[in-house]
Formats: sequence, C-alpha cells, structure tokens
Amino acid sequence: MSLSVDRASEGATDRSGAALPRLRGARGRAGRDGALTIRRPSVALQDVSKVYPNGRHALVDVDLIIPEGDFVFLVGPSGAGKSTLIKLLVRDELPTTGLVFVAGHDLSRLKRGKVPHLRREIGIVFQDFRLLASRTVRENVAFALEVIGAPRRQIGPAVERALAIVGLTEQAGQRPSQLSGGEQQRTGIARAIVHQPRILIADEPTGNLDPLTSWEIIQLLLRINEMGTTVLMATHNAEVVTALRKRVVALEDGRVVRDEVGGYHREY
Ligand SMILES: Nc1ncnc2c1ncn2[C@@H]1O[C@H](COP(=O)(O)OP(=O)(O)OP(=O)(O)O)[C@@H](O)[C@H]1O
Ligand SMILES: [Mg+2]
Repeated sequence: MSLSVDRASEGATDRSGAALPRLRGARGRAGRDGALTIRRPSVALQDVSKVYPNGRHALVDVDLIIPEGDFVFLVGPSGAGKSTLIKLLVRDELPTTGLVFVAGHDLSRLKRGKVPHLRREIGIVFQDFRLLASRTVRENVAFALEVIGAPRRQIGPAVERALAIVGLTEQAGQRPSQLSGGEQQRTGIARAIVHQPRILIADEPTGNLDPLTSWEIIQLLLRINEMGTTVLMATHNAEVVTALRKRVVALEDGRVVRDEVGGYHREY
C-alpha cells in the first residue's frame, strides 16, 4: 500500500513542464516567480491507530501531513496521544494500523537494522533534557555523533557549530549540574541538531522551564526552523502557541480535532 497521490491536482509542473505527483494534503507554496512549488512531506500519517497492549486506544484514525520546512505545534490535553504520535515517528512504537512515513522511510517496512538510518534524519528533544551527567556539554553533544559512527575529524567542527547555534560555546566545558535549566535544554537541542537532521521533534521541551526561559527556547527552535529544519513540537504552553500563529494540530482522545494556523482555543 502507498499514500494516495493526486497527479498534478493543482496543475503543478516542474521546469520541463512535466506534471508532478502531489501527495494528498501536502501544501504548495507560491515561489518568487509566482509558480507553485511543492514541498515534499517530511512526515505523513495515514489512517493511523495505536492500541497499547492494555487495550488503551491512544491514537484513532489519524491523518497528518507535515511538509518539509513546516513548524507545527502538537497540542491537546494530557493523555490525548501527543507523545504516542511522537513515539511512532521515531519508531519507538509501531502503529496498530495505518502507515507512517518519515523523511521518505515507510516505518512499517523499516527493518530493525535500518532504524539508525531513520534516526539520522531526526533530532529529538525531551522535556527532561536526558543529558549524561558525567560528561561536559561538548561531550554530550559529541556523543550523538559518536553513536552514529561519524568520522572523528567531522565531530569537532560539527559540535562547535551546534554549540554556536544554541549559544553555548562558552559553557562547553561544564557539566549539566553546572548549568541552568535553559542551558541544559540548549545542550539537548545542540545534541539534537548536531547531525543536521531534516526533522526536529520536541516533546514538551519547555515543560520544565520558567516562562522567560521557555520563550528563549522557542525562539531557538524557530531559528532552527528558519535554517530549513522541519519542527514538530508537542506543548501545553498556550501562551506561546497563541502568540506565534503557526500551524496547530490538536489531539483529543487520540483523534485530530483541529489542524489550522494559530490559536490554542482551550486550556489543556
Ligand atoms: N506504553 C503504554 N502502555 C499503555 N498505555 C499507554 C502507554 N503509553 C501511553 N499510554 C496511554 O495512551 C494515552 C496517550 O498517552 P500519551 O503519553 O501519548 O499522551 P500525551 O498527549 O503525551 O499526554 P501528556 O500531555 O500528559 O504528555 C494515555 O491514556 C496513556 O495512558
Ligand atoms: Mg506526552
């Protein structure tokens, strides 16, 4: 089975004039010359349901397409299925039914041995940072490259670049216990982007941070998005979601109940 593809449903053509296949739901964008450019989906879920072994229906008939370069908030009350959806994207869990595509990989067909290939396309940021306490900031970030077998000579420059992006160059020699919560999360973000993933997935990255620090972290995620990385962020932070007017996907009881730009609508 494959995702349904509408052939040139909006009359889009490539430079040669040939019709381009278009994924249902993928949004086009008018380029500078007014021509419609089609962004490839970086995430696509089709009719996805997830039933945990205890019988809990965590996701029900979820359809979702996130084109490359999007910034998407995933909201909904506790237990709505946000983390479950994220676990499907990083293949921590498999869907009970339906299809999950991430960065061109069909995850239901992805052999266990190929999971590292998928993980190279993804960066993950956690609410509780998950840093190695005995390692410095620099070593925490480098570790992400070491585990995927990056060549040694590439690791140093890549780590320094990631630390510069998150503004932690000066703290690179400190251990997590010597950092503020915001700095620990910046380290987590540096670790998530050091291998230059196409998609950054963050599950409540500001959940443990005060409001001002949360804004700084969000600004950083926005900047990373502007540099070309697709960002999906699960959050309960209504103020941020409402202020930014980005695409908001809302889950309730495992179903997508809203998918539109802007607004949190409810206190979850
Ligand atoms: N491993 C599991 N086994 C059984 N049930 C689970 C498991 N993980 C999650 N659930 C259940 O699935 C539902 C969705 O949980 P999930 O963690 O995806 O929600 P969430 O939207 O991330 O919530 P929160 O905002 O509190 O983080 C909940 O009812 C939860 O109890
Ligand atoms: Mg969660």
